[in-house]
Amino acid sequence: MGDPILREAAPEMSIEELRSPETQRLIDDLIETRRAAGGAGLAATQIGELKRIAVVEVDEHTRYAYKPLVPLTVIVNPVIEPLSDEQLLINEGCLSVPDLRGDVRRHLRIHVRYFDRNGDEGEQVVEGLTAGTFQHETDHLDGVLFLDRVTDPRSFSTWEQFDRHGQEEFLRRVAPYTRDAA
Ligand code: NI
Repeated sequence: MGDPILREAAPEMSIEELRSPETQRLIDDLIETRRAAGGAGLAATQIGELKRIAVVEVDEHTRYAYKPLVPLTVIVNPVIEPLSDEQLLINEGCLSVPDLRGDVRRHLRIHVRYFDRNGDEGEQVVEGLTAGTFQHETDHLDGVLFLDRVTDPRSFSTWEQFDRHGQEEFLRRVAPYTRDAA
């Protein structure tokens, strides 16, 4: 955080630009960097590229052991539509916000439309913590960090203090949406 690019909105990407070798290399880099860092997703702006591309992937090595597994999903020009007024208070972290977590309200169920890395249209309905991850990554493409959406600053904690004091209550709150419940 503090790098101005994280506060910029990335412009829509054309299919031609998406299919270029440069963009395909960037996508490979995003996938590899996410895997090395252990986040649940990563947006191009987080690696210094103002492009409307993010990846979402939750595998066994992701640093959020309670999040349901999500197969590798490359989202280009994603558009999110909430499917209800229901919200879920999710404790989030971010690879661009070192050692800080906080509570953020996210839409519980969303429809997400995007282009995949080949330029083919994709769509999914997702809910719970996974819906939160898609909203978090799409926010990055608009220059928004989870910090901006924390309504109670008292919910901020380091990862260590969250594990010690916050995790148990959080996991009770989101129990229907955890990996174990899935
Ligand atoms: Ni993030």
